[in-house]
Amino acid sequence: MSARLEGKVALVSGAAQGMGASHAREIVREGGKVVIGDINDAQGKLLADELGENARYVHLDVTSEEDWESAVAVAVDTFGGLNVLVNNAGIVNFGYLENYSLEQWNAILQVNLTGQFLGIKASRAALVEYAPSSIVNISSTAGITGSAGQHGYAASKFAVRGLTKTVAAELAGKNVRANSVHPGTIKTPMTEGMDLSSLAAPIRRIGEDVEVSKLVVYLASDESGYSTGSEYLVDGGLVNCAGAVVDE
Ligand SMILES: NC(=O)c1ccc[n+]([C@@H]2O[C@H](COP(=O)([O-])OP(=O)(O)OC[C@H]3O[C@@H](n4cnc5c(N)ncnc54)[C@H](O)[C@@H]3O)[C@@H](O)[C@H]2O)c1
Repeated sequence: MSARLEGKVALVSGAAQGMGASHAREIVREGGKVVIGDINDAQGKLLADELGENARYVHLDVTSEEDWESAVAVAVDTFGGLNVLVNNAGIVNFGYLENYSLEQWNAILQVNLTGQFLGIKASRAALVEYAPSSIVNISSTAGITGSAGQHGYAASKFAVRGLTKTVAAELAGKNVRANSVHPGTIKTPMTEGMDLSSLAAPIRRIGEDVEVSKLVVYLASDESGYSTGSEYLVDGGLVNCAGAVVDE
């Protein structure tokens, strides 16, 4: 069995389903321990049962400072530390300007941006204590380019880049790194039922959750020890290779 994450204890938010669940599975597969945090208690517990003694589930609403504090405490008390934080929980909402409400705007910023800030704040002391540590903030290609009808989503995902770089600068001297991951269109419950025809990437398929998890494992591990404050695309070429598709 490979052990790229031997000695690592990770806390993954939004890990009951979709990409977060995939990250949790890969972390354990690579020899790490994982605390699965989510608001979907039933599904989160099922995943923790599936992963066995190297996983624990904790109820974590990322908008709650108290929930974050408990989740960090579960990691330290159960597994003896915390040196990986994967800020994965996120929601999506849509609407053109004439219909997009302040409530929608506030709701998405609260989860996608403030949720990551609170996670970093609550984990900081443990990440420093159990360094070398790594923070992996999940953004999106919508954090790199604009996208009609996704005002709150894009704004929150752009802001994650600023938060990541600021945290990276502040904690570099403490042996804590922070990077952002920018998936393109990935097959998860979030994208189920969406019309994805206009999102075709040069690699002409939708991405698999595990393809993002492999990158998350790399960034979580000490293999990426010289990378911080950086942005990592996993998007089938969507952002950088527009116009690169050549039909034979
Ligand atoms: N699927 C895609 O194509 C795609 C592309 C780019 C970025 N992303 C980002 O990747 C991350 C995971 O997306 P996914 O597709 O797996 O989504 P998903 O909807 O399948 O899963 C999201 C998980 O987050 C949880 N969650 C929602 N609100 C929460 C809260 N307040 N506190 C804690 N947990 C909460 C949900 O219960 C769910 O388990 C998100 O940040 C998303 O924005 C997704």
